[in-house]
Amino acid sequence: MKELRAIILAAGKGTRMKSDLPKVLHPVCGRPMLSYVLKAVQSAGSLTSYVVVGHEAEKVQKILGEGVEPVLQKELLGTADAVRRVEGFLKDFRGDVLVLCGDTPLLKAETLKALVKKHRQTGASCTVLTAVVGNPSGYGRILRTTDGQAIAIREDKDLLESERSILEINVGVYCFKNESLLKTLPLVKMNPKKKEFYLTDVVEIMAARNLKIETMETDSPQEGWGINTQAELASAAAVLRQRILQKFMLDGISIVDPATTFIDADVKIGRGTLIKPFTVIEENVVIGKDCVIGPFAHFRPGTKIGNNVEIGNFTEVSRSTIGDQSFMKHFSFLGDTVAGREVNIGAGVVTANFDGKEKHLTRLGDGAFIGSDSILVAPVKIGKQAVTGAGCVVAKEKTLPDHHVMVGVPGKIIGKRKI
Ligand code: UD1
Ligand code: CA
Repeated sequence: MKELRAIILAAGKGTRMKSDLPKVLHPVCGRPMLSYVLKAVQSAGSLTSYVVVGHEAEKVQKILGEGVEPVLQKELLGTADAVRRVEGFLKDFRGDVLVLCGDTPLLKAETLKALVKKHRQTGASCTVLTAVVGNPSGYGRILRTTDGQAIAIREDKDLLESERSILEINVGVYCFKNESLLKTLPLVKMNPKKKEFYLTDVVEIMAARNLKIETMETDSPQEGWGINTQAELASAAAVLRQRILQKFMLDGISIVDPATTFIDADVKIGRGTLIKPFTVIEENVVIGKDCVIGPFAHFRPGTKIGNNVEIGNFTEVSRSTIGDQSFMKHFSFLGDTVAGREVNIGAGVVTANFDGKEKHLTRLGDGAFIGSDSILVAPVKIGKQAVTGAGCVVAKEKTLPDHHVMVGVPGKIIGKRKI
């Protein structure tokens, strides 16, 4: 099996985002757009990926994981020039290279896999992902001979009048035989209008040298959608959110109202859990089986919920762990809390986890009963089966021993729990 590598173009400024954050770092469902593209190429089999960085290169480099090499393009001289920055890494490489952009978070790994498969089956030098769309303006168009052979990609600005009616566009995703790519890249000339080197010109040069050009038409052009503006970012997030929710529902999670449920990427939820409307679950949160969540529940990163847990109305849980069969049914905030099993958190309970400088931990033992409106000024420790009375303020650094009861402001221990 041939090896696969990927080149992701991400040096552009993304001016239209009107943001200080580099375009490819804008989050979609909790993760930077670029990380979706990286994940897709990795799932498609790319062992080594190169990200061409330029604008705010250091910031982009920071999010690249293992097997991903940043390559600097100092001057933005076009997509062919961007790919040429990687040449040095590909000298002795005999496999195939995927080339795509870092601003296409909707692209699916399956589509890339299919593209690579067709590329290998046909033995093409270059296989281009294309789409037929209603409004092709702004995109490069696929030029074909009368017998249907793709021979060039013409950029929108350079189209002849007779070519304006072509509805087949270049999505901007390609698979190349590395040797053919390296031989052709140096032959690309600067586009006189834009003063840039176009990667798309590689196709015409290859075709003229009788190297085989293949295309694969995708039936969901949306996948190749490059995000340019904040509005497009929001639309892409809406699509990804639907994909995430669909997957959960297929896995046996009940979502009462997908339109008002916001679940980020990399969240795990166990089967049988019911999610009521207006719930926000942020990245990497883990929720167990048979839980009841919401309405109006907010889970922030670093949160892990056990099985058969109820987290109800107007609640926020942040960087906290809550054990099996615990309840927190009404308007409460838990931050930096480790709660055991069968803990009952009454209405209005608040952890005061931040003292203005640092965040502190709250520990709640198994079976603890935290009375309504209790305030836990962290760091505090509430023992197993211990009870706080309604409105109790547990002062900073206090420990309530197992089975004991605390009431009042500031909280005083009044004895043991009667069971
Ligand atoms: C490109 C294609 C066009 C295709 C479209 C699909 C070319 C010449 N044209 O046009 O046929 O229909 O994508 O979206 O390739 N970049 C760099 N360095 C550069 C220039 C660009 O890294 O010097 C990166 C950008 O950050 C961006 C990507 O390459 O992620 C595409 O560049 P862009 O200028 O947006 O190309 P398009 O005009 O969209
Ligand atoms: Ca673009």
